[in-house]
Amino acid sequence: MNDDSDKARRKVMQARAIAGSKEARSFYADWAASYDHDVYATLKVVGSHRIADLLQTHVPDVKSIEVLDAGCGTGAVAERLKFRGFELIDGIDLSPEMLQVARDKQLYRSLQEANLNEQFTLPHSPYPAIVSAGTFTTGHVGAKGFQNLFSHLRQGGLMACAIAIPVWERDQLAALVSTLPVNVLANRVDATIPGGKPDTHFLVLRKS
Ligand SMILES: C[S@@+](CC[C@H](N)C(=O)[O-])C[C@H]1O[C@@H](n2cnc3c(N)ncnc32)[C@H](O)[C@@H]1O
Repeated sequence: MNDDSDKARRKVMQARAIAGSKEARSFYADWAASYDHDVYATLKVVGSHRIADLLQTHVPDVKSIEVLDAGCGTGAVAERLKFRGFELIDGIDLSPEMLQVARDKQLYRSLQEANLNEQFTLPHSPYPAIVSAGTFTTGHVGAKGFQNLFSHLRQGGLMACAIAIPVWERDQLAALVSTLPVNVLANRVDATIPGGKPDTHFLVLRKS
């Protein structure tokens, strides 16, 4: 393993140990400038591509659907969605610095600061599609955020979330999902790093 890879892995471990939203904001303020290099150039994380591709398989008209990317960070999910033909993507994130990196890439129709762990309002809510990658992970967002996000999903809408196994288990998300008015269209456990251990639920549901 080289220095870059060591450093990137350390950052990911630190991110997973974050204790709350205040710490997350300050952690991502520091990481924003080198996040893409660490996560995508060095570690070659594929979770954001996987969830975007999975969403696409359930969307008949990618050009016209409005998508909310929750915890959008520097825009990796939107990059993939655009590659797949999606055009109307809004992003929300806790970190102004991560949002600024995303803004510079000009991928989103709109970008807004929001804390998924608290209730928030959005001008285009409710959405016909919501997607999230890398945000339902330890130290970040769990059941409360899932419920908040679900409240912004239109009836008949699709929600596609990558949810780290420790969060899935700790917050009993299988039980939570079973209480919601939804059809589960996919729920497979897969790796976020090529060749890595399966570590994440790739969940797609439709609100009934
Ligand atoms: C690992 S990054 C994932 C970013 C992007 N989705 C990707 O796939 O590269 C996690 C993101 O979640 C955001 N985040 C952490 N806690 C949050 C919260 N409570 N509400 C909204 N966003 C949050 C961070 O600012 C960061 O941009």
